[in-house]
Amino acid sequence: MPLFRKTAIRVRKALLPDAAAIDGLLFEYSRHGMLLARSLPELYENIRDFTVAEDGQGILGCGALHFYGRHLAEVRSIAVWPRLRGRGIGAMIVDALLAEADQHRIACVCLFTRIPRFFAGLGFKKVERERLPDKIYKDCLQCKRRDDCDEVAMFRGRLPGFARQEPRPTRRATRRPSRT
Ligand SMILES: CC(C)(COP(=O)(O)OP(=O)(O)OC[C@H]1O[C@@H](n2cnc3c(N)ncnc32)[C@H](O)[C@@H]1OP(=O)(O)O)[C@@H](O)C(=O)NCCC(=O)NCCS
Repeated sequence: MPLFRKTAIRVRKALLPDAAAIDGLLFEYSRHGMLLARSLPELYENIRDFTVAEDGQGILGCGALHFYGRHLAEVRSIAVWPRLRGRGIGAMIVDALLAEADQHRIACVCLFTRIPRFFAGLGFKKVERERLPDKIYKDCLQCKRRDDCDEVAMFRGRLPGFARQEPRPTRRATRRPSRT
């Protein structure tokens, strides 16, 4: 990565050809245990979760929004190349993910992090992890560090309550042709 880039930064949804670059960027941090490792097949499978920042020369940063349902989504895999940190790119990516959650009318966005100060600056508040059971059942119970976790749970929006099954929309009644 060059030290300084002059061209404008664009934030957009990731496409399949971005998977290899995202893989390289996430590996930069997962090899030091700073981010959860994600395999390339897993990235291909979940590429539609990802948003990237680019400048015409390559990917500068990435982040993902994972849907649990209309009640909750999770921001994950936020990363910016080390030499490009501190220029607002991480904040731009998180803002884009929050806008995406709004478009989908998702009530709450959560995340687990070791750098709560970064996310507090973007409007997230700390919460007890037990308030986010979707995440606990999906990841935490399987995690090697489940009894030794140093991540802080955070959220923005309306915390999920108890699970409530929404009624299925009924099929629209078809009108009988009138008899003449
Ligand atoms: C976290 C990360 C994505 C931030 O990206 P960035 O482009 O450097 O951040 P920005 O320049 O947009 O910073 C936005 C604000 O957050 C602050 N900030 C950035 N990194 C921070 C950190 N690690 N801790 C606390 N605050 C931080 C900045 O000072 C800035 O504050 P300001 O608006 O008052 O000036 C980047 O440092 C990174 O890739 N880290 C390694 C991977 C990682 O830990 N990801 C998060 C996993 S949950």
